[in-house]
Order: sequence, then structure tokens, then C-alpha cells
Amino acid sequence: SLKRVNFAEKIFTHFNREDLQYIQLISELAKRKRTRVYLVGGVVRDLILGFPNYDLDLVVEGDAIEFASFVAQKLEAKLVTYQPFGTASLFVGERKRRIDFASARQEFYAYPGAPPQVEHSNLRRDLFRRDFTINAMAISIYPDDWGELFDFFGGFKDLQKKLIRVLHPLSFVEDPARAIRAVRFEKKYGFQIEPFTMSLLKQTVREGLLAKIKPDRLKEEIQLILRLPGFYSYLQRLYQLDMFPYLFPGCVWKSDYDILYPRLERLIQEEASTERLDFFLLKMTPLLSDIQFDSLEAFVERLHLSKRFYSQVKTYLGRRTVLERILQEKTSPPSRVFEVCSEIPLEFLYFTLAKFHDQDLARERIRNYLTKWRFVKPELTGSDLKQLGIPQGPIYAKILRELQKARIDNLVYSREEEIALAIKLWERMKASDQ
Ligand code: CTP
Repeated sequence: SLKRVNFAEKIFTHFNREDLQYIQLISELAKRKRTRVYLVGGVVRDLILGFPNYDLDLVVEGDAIEFASFVAQKLEAKLVTYQPFGTASLFVGERKRRIDFASARQEFYAYPGAPPQVEHSNLRRDLFRRDFTINAMAISIYPDDWGELFDFFGGFKDLQKKLIRVLHPLSFVEDPARAIRAVRFEKKYGFQIEPFTMSLLKQTVREGLLAKIKPDRLKEEIQLILRLPGFYSYLQRLYQLDMFPYLFPGCVWKSDYDILYPRLERLIQEEASTERLDFFLLKMTPLLSDIQFDSLEAFVERLHLSKRFYSQVKTYLGRRTVLERILQEKTSPPSRVFEVCSEIPLEFLYFTLAKFHDQDLARERIRNYLTKWRFVKPELTGSDLKQLGIPQGPIYAKILRELQKARIDNLVYSREEEIALAIKLWERMKASDQ
């Protein structure tokens, strides 16, 4: 039988005031409709653990679409329904707060006073199709038993024992992406994957079932990992569990990443966070810098990444040798460093910064590029060149670029010097045309 544990108090501290108001309103409406409504899944897990979790996932014992429509009316919320799944989402208030409703269909009516297991067989069935016991609990928000925990599979005990445990042996077969989720929860909460679950996970990997995860789904799961602090330790764990061939074709985990990745993460937090960057690419740069070029296409396809992503990696791999040589050669003038850096995707420059962390010259040069050189502008503009009588055309871009480089090298200091240089460049270009 169910041990009655109540989280009424915790509901009040977990949610912010606005969300709490929504929950209380939904609770009243549930009573009016005689419809039982529960918080479920990750938000229950995190509420019990005292972790932040912004989800509002509700399960309705009955028709979720019907109930959500009723709530939408009363709250003047926008309603989006997904008929085939019997689910609905509300977008409430000025901030369009999202609240998700799913149906645990009431297929028969339990007799009054029936034991809770029978009475709540639909809720139980809904929870049974979930991934892990710690994610398969519900907390009632129905007024009569507000705050009561519904834990049919020992999730609460597993939370206390810090265990990730599947509900049944076919869990990973039903959804192989759960193998990645297991790693995410394991690391994020400092839990252990329970031995039988681990043996099922390893079997899933051995049998190649991870290949069945659809690219978009896979990308989502990886993105969830990449957003977490210490994201690289999750990647390392995925590698250790032999999942890389199915997730990141052509990539391996190298021991230098143990030093490189923490540096990269620090850079991302301290410096790169204000840039407009592809953070997926940025966080993958170490792996990609060591990828076999033949595998790049497979990598991009596996994770349904863009053409742009592909070409950025390709550019880097093609230019890396030159970049690293120029960065380290004592005689390279700043403008030469500028030129080669401007060809490299910024994500890979941040990677290179992490890689050359201990090499003062190279590191300072990248920093100069990132913070100064790339923003240097010549004083002259196109209209100045026009006034000098230089005929308009593609040479404008070339001249302006040369002026920028001269500025970076401190070869010109004033407008007059720029004008003199522009004319000299123009004459030289004319001469080489003839
Ligand atoms: N779920 C599942 N199997 C999956 C994905 C999700 O059973 N492959 C269930 C779990 O009950 C999970 C809930 O759906 O708790 C919500 O999923 P999601 O929002 O992806 O994860 P959370 O558990 O909420 O965790 P987090 O918010 O940390 O991602």
C-alpha cells in the first residue's frame, strides 16, 4: 500500500507566487469539475529534492483537453491542443506562462472507498510509461488531498538512496534516448545508476539501439547536457559508456580534454557569453578539432546540424595549421594574425585560446584579435575614396581592408596618412591591372 507522504508545504516554497496562484486556481477548478489533477515528472522530483525546476507539468485523471479548455476559459489563457496525444498547453498571463496538461484517461470508475492503487489505476498507468522511478511520481493538487505524493514504483526511496532506476526491463528499448537521460540525471544529481538498470543500459548500447534515436531528439538531449555546468563531464561519461559512435561519429575522448574543457568552460562563462556564438558548436570544438575529416559529414547528419555548422568546422580544419603557425611565429605582424584569425569561426578561436592558454604569445595575439583588432576601423570611408577620385568598385573593399591592417600595425596614425596610403594602394593596384 502507499505510504502517505505530503508535500503541501513544499509546494508553497517551490513555486514563485505567480505560479502558485495558477496552481491554486487550477486546484479550485479541478474541484468544481470533480477532476483529479497532479503535478508529475521532473517537477515533482525537483520539488522533493529542493532543486529549481520551471516546468508546470500536470496530469489529469480524465480528459486533459476538456479540462484544459475549461481552465483556459476561466484564466483567459491561450490554449493549444494536441488531439492525437490527448494533451494541451496553456499560455497564461502577460508572460505567457506555459502549463502542460496530459490525460490519464479514466476508463472505468472505481467504486467508492476502493484502495488507492485501484482508484488511481489511470494515474499509475501514466506514470508507468515514464523513464525512471524518480521521474515517475505525482503530487496531487486536488483540494481533498492537496500535496499528497503518489509514488507507485518506489521513486521516493530511490531519491533518498540516490538511484536512477528504470521501471521495467524494456524501458531503454522503448526509448533508447533514456540512456542519455540516465547519464544526465546521474551526473546532475550525483546519483548512481542502479546495477540492474546499468546492465540494461549497457545491453542497449551493445545492441546498437542508440542508432534509433532520431537526430532532432538526439540533438535536444545533447543540448540539455550542454547547458549544464560541467557539461564536458557528461560527455566524458557518454564516451566511457561506449555511446560516442552513436552520438558523435568519428569522435573520441582524449585525455587532454580533462584540462582543455574546464578552460573552455571558464572562457565561455567569463568572456564568450556576451558574443553571438553557436554554443553547440563552441562546446563541441574540442571533439571536432580531433574528428577524422571523413566522419564530419556523418557527425553533422547524425545530429541534424546545419550546412553552416559543417562549413565552419571544415574551414577550421583546413586553416588550423596556418593559424597555429602564425600565432606562434615571433615575426608575424599583427595584421597577419588579424588576417588569419578573421578566416576562423569565432567558436574555434575561443577553442584555440583555451588550447594555447599556456603560450603567452599566441594567447595574447588571439586576445588582441578578439578584443581589439577585429573592431579597428580606418578613418576613411567609401565616400572619402570617392572624393579622392578613385573609381568605385571591388577595390574599395580591398583598400579599406589594407587601411585597417595599416592601422592594426600602427603604420598610419592620422587621416592624412590614410589618404596618402589609399592613393598609393590605388596606384599600385592600377599598375598591377595593366
Ligand atoms: N519522460 C520519460 N521518458 C523520456 C522523456 C521524458 O519518461 N524519454 C518523462 C519523465 O517522467 C520526465 C518527464 O517525462 O520526468 C518530463 O520530461 P523532461 O521535461 O524531458 O525532463 P524532466 O524530468 O522534467 O527533467 P529536466 O527538466 O531536468 O530536463
